[in-house]
Amino acid sequence: MTRVAILGAGPSGLAQMRAFQSAAAKGDDIPEIVCFEKQDDWGGLWNYTWRTGVDQYGEPVHCSMYRYLWSNGPKEGLEFADYTFDEHFGKEFASFPPRAVLFDYIEGRVKKADIRKWIRFETAVRRVEYNDDTGMFTVTVQDLPNDREYSEEFDYVVCATGHFSAPNVPHFEGFNKFGGRVLHAHDFRDALEFKDKDILIIGTSYSAEDIGSQCWKYGCKSVTVSHRTAPMGYGWPDNWEEVPLLTKMDEDTAYFKDGTSKKIDAVIMCTGYVHSFPFMQEGLKLRTANRLATADLYKGVLWADNPKLSYLGMQDQWYTFNMFDAQAWYVRDVILGKIDVPDQAARDADVVDRIAREDAGEDDYDAIRYQGGYVQELIDETDYPSFDINGANEAFFEWKKNKKKDIMTFRNLSHTSVMTGKAAPAHHTPWKDCLDDSMEDYLKA
Ligand SMILES: Cc1cc2nc3c(=O)[nH]c(=O)nc-3n(C[C@H](O)[C@H](O)[C@H](O)COP(=O)(O)OP(=O)(O)OC[C@H]3O[C@@H](n4cnc5c(N)ncnc54)[C@H](O)[C@@H]3O)c2cc1C
Ligand SMILES: NC(=O)c1ccc[n+]([C@@H]2O[C@H](COP(=O)([O-])OP(=O)(O)OC[C@H]3O[C@@H](n4cnc5c(N)ncnc54)[C@H](OP(=O)(O)O)[C@@H]3O)[C@@H](O)[C@H]2O)c1
Repeated sequence: MTRVAILGAGPSGLAQMRAFQSAAAKGDDIPEIVCFEKQDDWGGLWNYTWRTGVDQYGEPVHCSMYRYLWSNGPKEGLEFADYTFDEHFGKEFASFPPRAVLFDYIEGRVKKADIRKWIRFETAVRRVEYNDDTGMFTVTVQDLPNDREYSEEFDYVVCATGHFSAPNVPHFEGFNKFGGRVLHAHDFRDALEFKDKDILIIGTSYSAEDIGSQCWKYGCKSVTVSHRTAPMGYGWPDNWEEVPLLTKMDEDTAYFKDGTSKKIDAVIMCTGYVHSFPFMQEGLKLRTANRLATADLYKGVLWADNPKLSYLGMQDQWYTFNMFDAQAWYVRDVILGKIDVPDQAARDADVVDRIAREDAGEDDYDAIRYQGGYVQELIDETDYPSFDINGANEAFFEWKKNKKKDIMTFRNLSHTSVMTGKAAPAHHTPWKDCLDDSMEDYLKA
């Protein structure tokens, strides 16, 4: 029997399992599926842990999420086309739910699909090798609680281990002398740690924006954000400033490129993540920047040199859950032989073309259209329920404009589901005043 290994049970790996289960439910013969997940539960980054550094087995902690995290994009942009919020929760609610609500939603679909039996939890992938003679992959894993390493053979491998977990940590002069804490966003857990503190954030993307906003919301004294390329340029609160890149630090002061300086209690590096696949054999290892058109993936998913290996969710993300679904349904149909894969030259040309098309875009609006078009392209080739991508793009455009108008109130505003056509109601409490991030509180009327 054909065997498929899925590496990771985050939203992408779960999408792959749900794709196979839905084909089986329609009467297709599906391969044997084995998913290896190093954590003790599913949900990937959405599976919160207080731990940082290494876990109880000495494994790097995967979680980059933190307490009080609310979705940064509207939930209407990430909704599953085959399992709506309405179906899961049975009611309408606001557009920017906290982590626990989205975890519950992710879990609801796969509980219903009954795919947990395919997952070997607390099992870390150690090595993936391809044998040209047999045409099979050898996947070596470690059963963590029993400290037992073993290998199995697979016809296909789907790598869904995420790419927002291994931090990119630059060095700045003087960090060794600085008396406060220096941490990366990956290890940030609770904004209350920084109450009454003057914090310095390095970086200007989503982690910088959101961690700075959390710290402001939970009472830090001031936020200083240092940029390498350009400031974020939102209308920030009075105790927030944007400054050029950090040049050096001493015991308690940060010095910036424009000659200014500021006394600082803690530094939070929001400097992004690296794609890291230490278990992949050379020749199978994806090396790419965090961009919409990744290197070396035909259709953004199939390893161009060997399309029996695929990578899900490796793009930078405007679209998330429904894009992972589009990819998973596509990969499923390649494995089931319903979609033909062209020769290597055509696969390589596809990669070059995608990169050129992304590079031709001028701004974030073009980037959203580009990724929306990509999702559409994939779902057009499978039976994943089609949805109004233009409508979803519009929701992202509206969201971006709301942020520009007021960065501290965009989460109070509502968007319309392109799956159900229903508009979300306003949340019962403005985001800045809502300190309880539980699911019960968010969903109460
Ligand atoms: C701080 C933060 C906030 C975010 N907020 C949002 C948001 O609000 N909305 C949104 O749509 N997206 C958000 N994202 C984007 C996020 O990338 C996706 O929502 C989603 O989690 C990606 O799913 P994934 O399955 O590809 O990867 P992940 O969620 O990273 O899951 C990968 C899984 O692989 C497992 N794994 C890794 N290595 C191994 C190994 N060697 N062996 C076995 N298992 C392994 C991990 O344990 C994990 O379960 C956020 C990302 C970050 C970092
Ligand atoms: N609430 C939420 O939902 C939430 C919260 C946080 C994060 N996220 C998600 O997490 C993902 C990752 O976001 P991210 O912000 O961590 O990473 P990111 O988008 O890759 O951004 C990395 C940032 O680090 C800067 N940087 C990198 N190297 C640097 C260096 N050597 N010196 C100075 N600056 C440097 C980059 O600056 P340049 O512009 O100069 O390159 C960029 O601003 C996104 O998908 C995001 O949506 C979501």
